[in-house]
Amino acid sequence: MKALILVGGYGTRLRPLTLSYPKPLVEFCNKPMVLHQIEALAAVSVTEVILAVGYRPQVMDDFLQQQQKKLGIKITVSREEEPMGTAGPLKLAQPLLDDGEPFFVLNSDVTCRFPLADMIAAHKKHGGMGTILLTKADEPSKFGIVLYDAASMRVSAFREKPTEWVGNMANAGVYLLSPSVLQRIEMRPTSIEREVFPALAADGLLYAHELTGHWADVGQPKDYLIGMCMHLQAMRLENDAQLATGPTFIGNVLVDPSARIGSGCRIGPDVVIGANCVIEHGVRLKRSTLLPGCHVKSHTWIASSIIGWGCIIGSWVRIENTSVLGEDVVVHDEVLVNGGIVLPHKSVSEPILQPTVVL
Ligand code: GDD
Ligand code: MG
Repeated sequence: MKALILVGGYGTRLRPLTLSYPKPLVEFCNKPMVLHQIEALAAVSVTEVILAVGYRPQVMDDFLQQQQKKLGIKITVSREEEPMGTAGPLKLAQPLLDDGEPFFVLNSDVTCRFPLADMIAAHKKHGGMGTILLTKADEPSKFGIVLYDAASMRVSAFREKPTEWVGNMANAGVYLLSPSVLQRIEMRPTSIEREVFPALAADGLLYAHELTGHWADVGQPKDYLIGMCMHLQAMRLENDAQLATGPTFIGNVLVDPSARIGSGCRIGPDVVIGANCVIEHGVRLKRSTLLPGCHVKSHTWIASSIIGWGCIIGSWVRIENTSVLGEDVVVHDEVLVNGGIVLPHKSVSEPILQPTVVL
């Protein structure tokens, strides 16, 4: 069985992190986003994953070579000369993708406990051309909304980002498609959500599969942090032994084994500390991710923020309110960063009092 992951787009909503790495390689809960997906696919015997890439393929290539070996799964890159949308890449990759069997398609920025085995079973049972995973949405206008019959699960309509209320069951960005769908896609930039799914639904060939657990699109900082909390809680419910234990930690905390944490820190709830981070004594961290290689000096407070690779944060600093620091940022001692979006390699010596982008 094969799968295609849609990895196009510049990940602008996750800047400044995506100025250093393509979005799929940004770590989410200490693992590159795309690796969460590749591992889930490998677990249901997917043998080949095709990455439909439109951005910085060379960085991806190196990473993928390593993963191929580790996971024993073939990873191929399908490159686009121009952005092909969300359906065009499937047509472009048809020679790689079509082996006569149904295949998975995933958006690269979604996280959940992928119920792929259940989707395979449902797809076989209903005999339609496509099965799409659904999750309940609080803000339906941000998603593709699906109308379907709750008994047969057959989809009657698919509306991408509707401006009026039609329902709240949203496309979760995970599909299982029969190869015959490829015949319905033209070789041009085109949208699966605006062109392919509405037509399949009109022909009664599309079916829905409801997700029961958590789900998040982690393509922007606010949602990244919400998704992180959900993911850590899912690990808690599964009694995952990787979660940190001991008097330093509150609630769900994930610490890479190579990170070093000083005395008298209070860490949690909902914190992820990446590889080779150094946290000095008396530091307070909550609801934040520290990407690999950060150094946080003594008595600093960080809440609801993402700290990029290799940042150096001084002593008695306060960082909060969905601040995102790019790679290799230095924050001087005693500085306040309130909702600061700081570009890579910057040095912050003056307080950031209001949410601002520091260029
Ligand atoms: N290869 C390639 N080429 N991939 C692309 C392109 C392109 O031109 N454009 C977008 N993608 C990829 C993105 O990288 C992402 O993984 C996926 O296609 C969806 O694009 P987004 O830009 O993230 O779309 P969205 O979040 O606004 O909406 C989509 O996801 C929602 C769930 O998060 C839609 O599929 C909605 O229907 C869905 O509800
Ligand atoms: Mg998205």
